[in-house]
Amino acid sequence: MQEIIVQGQSGRSRILIGETLANLNRYLPDGRAIIITDENVARLYADQFPPVEVITIGSGETHKTMETLAQIFDRLIAAEADRSAFIVGIGGGIVGDVTGFAASTYMRGVRFGFVASTLLAQVDATVGGKNGVNFKGYKNMVGVFCQPEFVIIDIAMLKTLPPAEIACGLAEIVKHACIADAVYFDDIETHCDRIAALDATTMLRLVQRSVEIKAAVVNADERESGERRKLNFGHTLGHAFEKTLGISHGAAVSAGMVLASELSVRQGLLSPEEFERIKKLLSRLHLPTELEFDRAAVFDALKKDKKRQRAQMHFVLLTGIGRSEVRSIAIEEIGAWLMGR
Ligand SMILES: NC(=O)c1ccc[n+]([C@@H]2O[C@H](COP(=O)([O-])OP(=O)(O)OC[C@H]3O[C@@H](n4cnc5c(N)ncnc54)[C@H](O)[C@@H]3O)[C@@H](O)[C@H]2O)c1
Ligand SMILES: [Zn+2]
Repeated sequence: MQEIIVQGQSGRSRILIGETLANLNRYLPDGRAIIITDENVARLYADQFPPVEVITIGSGETHKTMETLAQIFDRLIAAEADRSAFIVGIGGGIVGDVTGFAASTYMRGVRFGFVASTLLAQVDATVGGKNGVNFKGYKNMVGVFCQPEFVIIDIAMLKTLPPAEIACGLAEIVKHACIADAVYFDDIETHCDRIAALDATTMLRLVQRSVEIKAAVVNADERESGERRKLNFGHTLGHAFEKTLGISHGAAVSAGMVLASELSVRQGLLSPEEFERIKKLLSRLHLPTELEFDRAAVFDALKKDKKRQRAQMHFVLLTGIGRSEVRSIAIEEIGAWLMGR
């Protein structure tokens, strides 16, 4: 097992890579806890949970709401959970975001941890202390920064995950390699077959490297004022695709990374050969590299992006595979490029 530490202002988080759900009990105070999970994870794994109270929420983004939060608070009160309670979220990014928010606000905050069960949660969502819910159609509009005490990453849980969900995690993995580590990019390129077979050694290595990269970025900039913005590579356009086309986050981010790389080439920062390598890797991982989209609708969604600062936008560009920088670009310039493509 490998342990990586995330040090945030709100606390320290131990990311336990290669630990198992079966060992969860070891991390609970006196073996006591309340589990929050979703219906799919409960169906597949509840028989492996420790014998404690389980709160099951619905699956999907439509359940990442204040209403679900209120239901959780009701259940916590009914279970007479007090300030000494320990809450464990077992599931993907949605369970993590909801659990983290519920735990860090219930009675002004109780202790909590996660068992990350999707690839996206393992390499991205449960690392970094961001949590929250959607509000009136705005994604992640309400939440807090608060670090989980531990995150158990059990690679065996990926075996039951649908291929489309695996692809979502792989998009973030390619993102980490693109922004921070050329050797990691080579490793993914060399081992596409083993990744497709979810080979345990390969997946452990990938998850570990991704967590190291994300943890380093978060340790340097928990609140996203500089370095953490690099993690948004492919996400500015990705979010606009996700919203306007209703496609999965991973697919949208993949196409977003291709466009951000194209813009990097246009700005003379990335070579056309590197651009081709990125496209090829994504398509070998069954991620889309091109999408049919309504340019005006995407530009409109871009203009509504909450991360936009007035007429300028922080845009993550690559200065090579494994190297990135955040540039402030005029929204009109991005629009002109998009429309003119
Ligand atoms: N907090 C952060 O920093 C951060 C970062 C990235 C994403 N997110 C959030 O994460 C969410 C997406 O997370 P996700 O992709 O994990 O989605 P998810 O939590 O919806 O999980 C995807 C699907 O897989 C099912 N599932 C989970 N584990 C399974 C398993 N082991 N086997 C079979 N099925 C399983 C779930 O029930 C769900 O249907 C979004 O809401 C996003 O905003 C948060
Ligand atoms: Zn993402």
